[in-house]
Amino acid sequence: MIELIKRLPKAELHLHIEGSLEPELMFRLAHKNNVAIPYNSVEEVRSAYNFTNLQTFLDIYYAGANVLLTEDDFYDLTWDYIKRCVENNIIHTEIFFDPQTHTSRGIAFDTIISGIKRALSDAKEQYGISSCIIMCFLRHLSEQQAFETLEQALAYKDDIIGVGLDSAEIGNPPSKFAAVFKKAKAEGFKLVAHAGEEADFSYIYEALDLLNIQRIDHGVQSIHSPELMARLKQEQIPLTVCPNSNIELKVFDNYQAHNIKQLLDYGLNVSVNSDDPAYFKGYVNQNFINLYENIDLSAEDIITLVRNSFKAAFIDDQLKAEYLAKVDAAISCT
Ligand code: ADE
Ligand code: ZN
Repeated sequence: MIELIKRLPKAELHLHIEGSLEPELMFRLAHKNNVAIPYNSVEEVRSAYNFTNLQTFLDIYYAGANVLLTEDDFYDLTWDYIKRCVENNIIHTEIFFDPQTHTSRGIAFDTIISGIKRALSDAKEQYGISSCIIMCFLRHLSEQQAFETLEQALAYKDDIIGVGLDSAEIGNPPSKFAAVFKKAKAEGFKLVAHAGEEADFSYIYEALDLLNIQRIDHGVQSIHSPELMARLKQEQIPLTVCPNSNIELKVFDNYQAHNIKQLLDYGLNVSVNSDDPAYFKGYVNQNFINLYENIDLSAEDIITLVRNSFKAAFIDDQLKAEYLAKVDAAISCT
């Protein structure tokens, strides 16, 4: 089964590029840029990754991002992730970035996006990996600050396919960002939002009804509302689920307690994603392997999860069909 997991081509739909900053690169950039970090070794960084909830992770994640200063830094960050895509057989990826984490430190929007874009263009050229970029608003900041970020993104409409919402969920409901999402939609951006990760399922309703989102990031709390589950199934609203993340951030006590199999069996479009793989002990294949080793996932389930990742992707129908055909080819070649 592990061989099948590795062999299947996949799409990744929920990946924060800042969350792919491995301790080795963090150290190298801290040294190069003369940025102080509160660790003496790569091992010390890894052992600091003991989270009790989302906020304890976010504090460390934002501190880590401070080492990113130049366009080349954003290139190197993204290129390291692309190398992981190659290892994990990810042939299409939709990457989140958090501009406010960097612009608040005086980094130009153009520096961030140019570095990411250049690596993605090399990824297409060297490995045939397709990609898009989704800009997330930090929900612990104000809606006014999100509007200012959206204003900056307008010059990069050709490079940024959509907008999302991330950071500290509880206390920062989707309703706080209804107006800025309305404007983003009018500007032609696709819309996604983290909802129902730590906060209850009312946040998922708000994301659907007030933000008009097309995909839910996480969404695992939907299980607590039969009515919402029925709607997600009826409308086939995708949930980009991140198992390792949910375990590391104590959303579930362990893999056996994770509800991905129930969501899948109910008929929802759920996919498997890595969220912040440098912090959550592994990339997409490791997420699948952890699920397989701990819950009763069949080969059929794994194939459905992989097919869902392409079905939910922001790509045209022709490319979708090509990618799904690649999945079929990988299944039949044993
Ligand atoms: N930013 C990076 N990872 C996140 C997560 N899992 N939830 C909310 N915001 C995030
Ligand atoms: Zn996330």
